[in-house]
Amino acid sequence: MAQLHQSPARSVFGSLVLIAVIIAGGAAAFAFTGGWFSPQRLTPDKMVDALTPPTGEPLGHRRNHAKGICFTGVFDANGAGTALSHAQVFTRGQYPALGRFNLGTADPNAADATVRVRGMGLQISTPDGQEWRSAMVNPPVFPVSTPQGFYELLLASASKDPDAMKTFAAAHPEFAPFGAWATKGPWTGSYAEERYNGLNSFVFTDSSGVEHTVRWSLLPAAQPVSVSPDDLAKRGPDFLEQEITERVRGGPQRWTMVVTVANSADPTADPSKAWPEDRRTVEVGTLTVQQIEPERDGPCRDINFDPTVLPSGIRTSDDPFPAARSSVYAKSYDLRTAEAKDYPRTAMEAKP
Ligand code: HEM
Repeated sequence: MAQLHQSPARSVFGSLVLIAVIIAGGAAAFAFTGGWFSPQRLTPDKMVDALTPPTGEPLGHRRNHAKGICFTGVFDANGAGTALSHAQVFTRGQYPALGRFNLGTADPNAADATVRVRGMGLQISTPDGQEWRSAMVNPPVFPVSTPQGFYELLLASASKDPDAMKTFAAAHPEFAPFGAWATKGPWTGSYAEERYNGLNSFVFTDSSGVEHTVRWSLLPAAQPVSVSPDDLAKRGPDFLEQEITERVRGGPQRWTMVVTVANSADPTADPSKAWPEDRRTVEVGTLTVQQIEPERDGPCRDINFDPTVLPSGIRTSDDPFPAARSSVYAKSYDLRTAEAKDYPRTAMEAKP
């Protein structure tokens, strides 16, 4: 085969061209990520804009699930999860947990009884230096199939057009199961009585290298008691954080973590679709909430419960949400941490 020989001058020129191409390519990749080439492209900025509530940007606060209360506790793994994932968090033992009960609203001053979706952010840390972060909600399914659908839902719910939601629901038939839960599902009077569902699917890898696509949920030990939103409204605008603070003061609150394993034909890329009831489930451990922590000055303030922060043994799946969520949560985190003066801490700064 003939060899190609280049003079040193041509080779330097070739390298410069190559460097220029790489730089241009990198810049183009940034521009693409920023959505500059295609105005229709969904970006974290657009999503954050669409989340802005009518009350205005929640400066210093999370751009969604802005109202909440922090907690600390432990996760006791019972060892059963090692059949699905080699992550240390499933090895029998106790691991520190940090989390946040919250409301699915971008308004940090919303009255508790007006917000349908309740959530929990959770971080479990293990001695191998790894972390599992997750943010879960109480509906059994997500309202839409794709991040683009979520954006359209935000636009429709903020629209002044009285038919906007009707038009949205007609274009997104997948919304119906969530809509049914939102209108007919029970409300409870406590964060402790809620079931928190991860909804997105992830892939667990076991110690033999076999992969299992899963979703997870936290099932409350407390018996849920149904209360109408009208009765909840009478309990005051912040009854949820007052109730959970008193309840945890009276004793730790527990949830069982259940992992559901998909069959091969199950819709793993669409959190609006429930998997059939008969799927294999594994109880992998218990979350115990031991202490309610201050929201403004506590350990949750500067944490981003990014669902792509995962230990080895858990990875993202073909579900498009976690990557989209990660980019929007990062944008929200960057904004709120730069706005600390609008949400000042109350604790005295330590003096040297
Ligand atoms: C594309 C879809 C989604 C978008 C754009 C979105 C947006 C956001 C944003 C901006 C935050 C605040 C992040 C921060 O500043 O730390 C947040 C928090 C949260 N999200 Fe999402 N989210 C999406 C999907 C979901 C899904 C599918 C779930 C649950 C299955 C979920 C549950 C939560 C929870 C529980 C929090 C509060 C976490 C905390 O306490 O810090 N989100 N979301």
